[in-house]
Formats: sequence, C-alpha cells, structure tokens
Amino acid sequence: MPDPATSSDSERARPSDSDERAAAVDTDAIDVTDATDATDATDATDTADVGIADAPPPPDPGGLPLIGNVHELAGDALAFYERRSAEHGGIVRYDVFGTESYLVTDPEAIGRILVEDHDRFVKGEMPREQLGALLGDGLFLAEGEAWREQRTAIRSAFFRDRVAAYGDSMVEHARATAASWEDGEVVDLHAASTEYAFAVLAESLLGRDIERERETVRAAAAAITDRFDTRRPTSFLPEWLPTPTNRRYRRRLDALREAIRDLVADRRAAGPPADPGAADDLLGTLVAAAELGALDDDEVVDNAVTFLFAGHETSALGLTYALYCLADTPEFQDRVHAEVAALDGDPTPADLRACPALTAAVDEALRLYPPVHSFFREPTESVALGGYCVPAGVVLTLSPWAVHRDGRWWDDPETYRPERWLCEAEDGGVVHGDDAPGPATGARPEHAFFPFGGGPRHCIGMRFARQELRLAIGTLLRRARLEPATAELSVRASANTRPDGPVRVCVHVRDEALGPDELSPSPDEPIDTS
Ligand code: HEM
Repeated sequence: MPDPATSSDSERARPSDSDERAAAVDTDAIDVTDATDATDATDATDTADVGIADAPPPPDPGGLPLIGNVHELAGDALAFYERRSAEHGGIVRYDVFGTESYLVTDPEAIGRILVEDHDRFVKGEMPREQLGALLGDGLFLAEGEAWREQRTAIRSAFFRDRVAAYGDSMVEHARATAASWEDGEVVDLHAASTEYAFAVLAESLLGRDIERERETVRAAAAAITDRFDTRRPTSFLPEWLPTPTNRRYRRRLDALREAIRDLVADRRAAGPPADPGAADDLLGTLVAAAELGALDDDEVVDNAVTFLFAGHETSALGLTYALYCLADTPEFQDRVHAEVAALDGDPTPADLRACPALTAAVDEALRLYPPVHSFFREPTESVALGGYCVPAGVVLTLSPWAVHRDGRWWDDPETYRPERWLCEAEDGGVVHGDDAPGPATGARPEHAFFPFGGGPRHCIGMRFARQELRLAIGTLLRRARLEPATAELSVRASANTRPDGPVRVCVHVRDEALGPDELSPSPDEPIDTS
C-alpha cells in the first residue's frame, strides 16, 4: 500500500531531473517506505547471508596498543582513510581506543549498507556518544520507528514546491553578499559562505527570529569545531569526559538549546499565523507536527537544533569549496558565467536545468571536497560484506572523501575537472551527464558518488542544498569574477570537512550592467523576499 508520505508527486524524483539524479543515488525515489520495496526487489537479504559462515574477517593492518590508530587519525584523518583504502581495499579494520571499526569504501558494500540492506544497520552508539548532546533525539540520530515518524512529519518542508519557494531568499541573500564586496577586495569565502548559509537557513527554515541568536549559534559552532577537530586525539574520546574542551562544548550547547527552546515557545505561543503562508517554514512544520501529537516538545527543539547544524555548516562548506575551485579554474568559471549571464535575470529554480555547467561545477566540488567526509553505521547482526564477515555491533565508517578520490572510479581524481560531468546531447548541445540518455554517472558504480549519503536516510536537505549552492553561485558570478588569493586549499577533518584557514579570493566586480530589477540592494537596505 502506498504510504501517504511518499505518494506525493511533488516529492518524487522525475527520472530526467538532474537535480535529483546528480546525487548519484536517486534517493528521493526510495524515501522512507519505498526502501522496503528496494529491498524486496533485489532480495538482498538472501545474498547477505550467502557464505557468511565461511567468509574471512576483513584485513586488519593493526595499530598501537590501547590507542589503536588514533595517532594516524590525529595526524591526518582524511589521508589515513585514503591510504587505508588504497593499500587494503574496500573494507579494512582500524581501531580507536579499543573500538573495533571498519572503513568501508567499496561502492557496492556502501549500497548494501545504505539501500538494499539498510534495515540491518543502525546509526549506533558512536554517533550518539559524539553528537547526542547537540542533536538529542532529532531526525539525524533517531532510530527505528521514532526516526520514521519524524521523517514522515518533517519531509513536507522539503517537497519540491516548498524548496522552490525558498529560491527567492537564496538569490536575495546572494545579491546582498555580492553588494557587500568591493572591486579588488580580498574576501574570505568560508566566512562569507557561513554568513550566507545561516541567513538563508534562518529565513527559510527557522524564521528570522533566530537571527537574534546569531552570537549564541556562532559560539556553539566554534565549540563544535574544537570538539571534533581530529588533530586532537581527545576528540575521539566520548563527550561525557570532563576535558576543558568538552566542558566548554557542553556550556555553549546548553546556551544554544535554551535559546532554541525560547524560539519554539514563542512560535507556539503566537499560535497559527494570520497569514497561513508564513507557516511554510520548517519551524512551522515542526510546531504543527507537535500540535498534532506527532512530535513531543523535546523533539521539536532537538530537530530545530539538528536542522540548524546539519543545514548551515554543510551548505556553507559546499559553497566555499565550489567558489574557490571555480576561482582556481578561470576557464570553467567563464563558462559558468556565460551560462548564467545568458539568463533573463538572476537564476531561478526553474532555470537550473538549463545550466549544466553550473550544476557540473557544484557536483565536482562535492566530489573533490565532500562537506561530510565520513559517516557511520553499525550492523545489528553479523553480515557478509564485500566477501568478508563483519561482526555485529562494530563501527562502520563510510567515507565519501576516500571513495570520491579513488582512482578506480575517477580519472585524475585529485583534480577539479567539472567537464567530467558534462556530455554532448543528441541535438549537439551540452547537458549534464544525468540528463543524457544512458547511465547517470557514466561507467562508475552507483555509490562512487554519495555526498548526501543514500537510501532512506539520505540527506533530507539535499534538494535544498543543491538548489541553494547553484542559485548562490549563479547570482554571485553574474556580478563578480573571482581569483584565488589563497595559494592552495588545505582542509582537515572535524565534524565536517573544514578548511585549515581562511579561503581567500580577490573579487573583480563585473562591469556589465545588470537589469534594473537585478541591481544589488545596498548592504543596509532591508531584504524583501516576499
Ligand atoms: C552540501 C550540503 C549538505 C551535505 C553534503 C549533506 C550531507 C548529508 C549526509 C551525508 C547525510 C547522511 C548521514 C548519514 O546517513 O548518517 C545527511 C543527513 C541529513 N542532512 Fe544533510 N547535507 C547537506 C545539507 C543539508 C541541509 C541544507 C539540511 C537541512 C536544511 C540537511 C539536513 C540533514 C538531516 C536532518 C539529515 C539526517 C536525515 C535522516 O537521518 O533522516 N543537510 N546530510
């Protein structure tokens, strides 16, 4: 029986829509309940058991007594993942202070874990120990029926039409960002992108009132970055240990949760808005779900915090890396500029299909610098995976970073080459590969590209983020040409893939006159997104 939550046309991916297909996994088509169908269709449960008794354990290259591989992770976690995978294959053991962990970089095994056999894996204890104080029982950490109920209650905020309606806000804030840049100025893309993504998220999902909590959010974000900075071996220890970093982290999270609690209380006290359209943000959806009894009060707060963090830092990083890579690839930047300059005005969500180079620029940045470098699962029973027997209860680390840079799936993997996503259309024009007939991502396995995860627990904000990145880049590049001022981009693993320092570019404001309705507002002018 179709689930009402998945039967909406507005949510289902159209097969020809590169916006969804470019995420490699057509994940919207198997959301929540459809995942069961996917499992049935491939009968993966049977194959999972074949040979489990005889399968050997995955390779174990070893580590140091007690700490295991923590010293290597602290040296450079991203390089460690790449090295382990290249030297020992798609599933390999490592240890973190006695916790048995396996790095999984075999795309087929990733598909099994996220899609076909997803019900044999949970997020498990590790992410909860690390992130529980921040995200509580919100969507990101919830499991089983509680997760399913929340996802069903929340997903309408990310339906195609709702996300398209956020387009104006995404463009207006990009105009304001461009207007704040002077010709010849050197700007830090990471700082600018963080401001931008926060403003968009605040306005479209959480309501402008969150703006007054900007400092509380900034302090919490800094504490989170410190807490998860893998260069410090203590970042691998549980959050409840009273280290100075953990104590600061806890203090700042408490302040943040308190602020969010007030925000939710205000919204609930205000009752239904006079203009029903104003309830069309995520906070409105959460409060409405609470009124209907689908979420309790704590879950509303947990989810507001979850979306604040899952939604603004990741997008900000994606925008930072895509803009820097374009600055560093002038010919392709010109190509994207030509594409967006040919539009009638600043891009709209409806224009994006006509912008294959812009889409390719974003996909290639998400490949080379995936904002989420890795995430975790735990098998609930022993499973045969990639020819090995993996025991129940261990930590499985799925790493977009390592898979996206694997030379088996990608030519010249360390180079930003957006052309790889483009191909010639039948009419002689150029399209994004996902809009061409034939396999969406060429000869690569499906999960060789999974910046947004996959299966029923894929990123609920994927459509939002892909639209946001493209609208922001299109709007900015219509007004400015960027040139790198930081010689080389260097990143490190924290909770996400973070730059090692400021990511500077020099802004060259373009002379071409924009139409009267496209002139940037002055930075002081209030932004009208009505
Ligand atoms: C470029 C930007 C983004 C990237 C790379 C990204 C990446 C991811 C990944 C890899 C996951 C899966 C984690 C797992 O399976 O354990 C995920 C889940 C999630 N993301 Fe995103 N994300 C982005 C933007 C967003 C935005 C804009 C939002 C919200 C507005 C969001 C909200 C979430 C939530 C709530 C989940 C948990 C979903 C669930 O478990 O049902 N993300 N994201």
